Amino acid sequence: MFARVKDFLYRHRRKFVIGGAIIGGVAVLSRYAEFKLLEWHDQQTRILMEKQKKRQHYENTHRTANATVLSLSLNMKEVISKELDADILLQAVREQPQHKHSIWEQLKIVGFSRAISTVYIASLVASAVRVQLMLLAGYTFGDVIQSCHAGAPISQTLQQKYLSVLHYLVEKGIPKLTSQVTQAVTHIVTGLPLGRPLTLSQLEAIFQEIKLILAGENSSQDDLYERKITKLEPWSRYVFEAPVPPEGDSGEDRILYNMLIETDDIIDSEDFSTVVDTLIQHGFNHLLDRMADFYPLPKSQQGFCGSNENWVDNVSRDILPNVSTSEVDSFPLTQITPTHSTSFSNNSSLPVAKLVPLLSGVVHGALSPTPGQLLQKILTVDKLDSLGANVYEAFALPFGQ
Ligand SMILES: *[C@@H]1O[C@H](CO)[C@@H](O)[C@H](O)[C@H]1NC(C)=O
Ligand SMILES: *[C@@H]1O[C@H](CO)[C@@H](O)[C@H](O)[C@H]1NC(C)=O
Ligand SMILES: *[C@@H]1O[C@H](CO)[C@@H](O)[C@H](O)[C@H]1NC(C)=O
Ligand SMILES: *[C@@H]1O[C@H](CO)[C@@H](O)[C@H](O)[C@H]1NC(C)=O
Ligand SMILES: *[C@@H]1O[C@H](CO)[C@@H](O)[C@H](O)[C@H]1NC(C)=O
Ligand SMILES: *[C@@H]1O[C@H](CO)[C@@H](O)[C@H](O)[C@H]1NC(C)=O
Repeated sequence: MFARVKDFLYRHRRKFVIGGAIIGGVAVLSRYAEFKLLEWHDQQTRILMEKQKKRQHYENTHRTANATVLSLSLNMKEVISKELDADILLQAVREQPQHKHSIWEQLKIVGFSRAISTVYIASLVASAVRVQLMLLAGYTFGDVIQSCHAGAPISQTLQQKYLSVLHYLVEKGIPKLTSQVTQAVTHIVTGLPLGRPLTLSQLEAIFQEIKLILAGENSSQDDLYERKITKLEPWSRYVFEAPVPPEGDSGEDRILYNMLIETDDIIDSEDFSTVVDTLIQHGFNHLLDRMADFYPLPKSQQGFCGSNENWVDNVSRDILPNVSTSEVDSFPLTQITPTHSTSFSNNSSLPVAKLVPLLSGVVHGALSPTPGQLLQKILTVDKLDSLGANVYEAFALPFGQ
């Protein structure tokens, strides 16, 4: 009996040996797996925490960028009001009534330029600030997640030096941009009679034409060349001066130089240009919405239609649209009671002379940090967020790569 069992065992011993190995193997493996599992779990937790930290870091940067743009709103307003001074012209109208015709012609250009500059400046500042802060955040990401350092730490001094570039944007860039906008506006608007009624879509067409010139797209070149009108891009022209390579090959100056070169590349990229363009379009839409509020409803005004025409004729004859001159600059647009807010007919129109003070005053509301205003609207555009996120991701390399 036992002999048979022994024999059986003998004949199958290899199987038992192998079986034992398998059983032991499973035991060993599971202990190893457990270890691996723990290790994996730790790693996941670390990645998760890192992701969370990264997400927080990104969102903080986003918030800071928002706050920076809003805090620059006052500076933007000041520079626009200084470069395109409507008050001085209004005073001149009062003091030299004999020249009111030519002064109103200037006021027309200033009014249009102020509104359009506002759109361009808000769009450029919002985009440039987002790119700069996200790039800086990407660079400092390694310092934030201390465990895995990407490179040399970015000192406070270096960060400040990098951000001080924003002074250039406000002090030099905005005036430069304003002056180019004014040239394009002058080109388009000069021949527009003050008494000419404009429908909203005609006003939009004027904006579009100015936009085309500024994009360098309507190149009836001789004409533009003669008037020295150049297209706006590259955008880096307004954001900073071309960075100068430092003497040495290392140190903070070299890092700063590299950061500026990289910023320059982004700001002159097609992606950036597309984003700014989108923001500008949003800006114009907002502007037209605000203007629409002041267009009369033809139905309710039907009875006054005749006198309305008379008024327009009188304005064009007299060039004294006294009506709203006092509103220029002294009122934020929001404080003027809109005629209505919703639908209006395509045929409803306002004379240029009435539009000028409204356009001129738009800067105050548009660049105030109040929700629903142009600057806030621009900060919510998706494309701006994607641009910022892409820049952040590109520079925030994970795990010390
Ligand atoms: C930035 O500002 C915009 C506009 O106010 C807002 O919609 C967005 O949520 C803000 N983002 C952050 C991260 O604060
Ligand atoms: C733009 O181009 C069209 C057609 O080439 C031309 O008629 C128009 O005058 C141009 N506008 C400006 C502002 O140059
Ligand atoms: C326009 O001018 C005419 C004649 O000068 C005058 O009779 C009329 O009252 C004026 N209309 C308005 C709205 O000022
Ligand atoms: C227009 O304004 C001037 C000065 O601001 C004033 O003297 C004149 O009376 C005004 N005219 C009308 C029709 O309100
Ligand atoms: C305004 O014009 C557009 C196209 O020009 C047209 O589709 C729309 O129906 C018009 N609206 C009114 C109220 O006339
Ligand atoms: C708008 O103007 C066109 C012609 O200029 C006219 O046929 C149409 O009836 C007008 N529509 C309204 C709502 O006044």
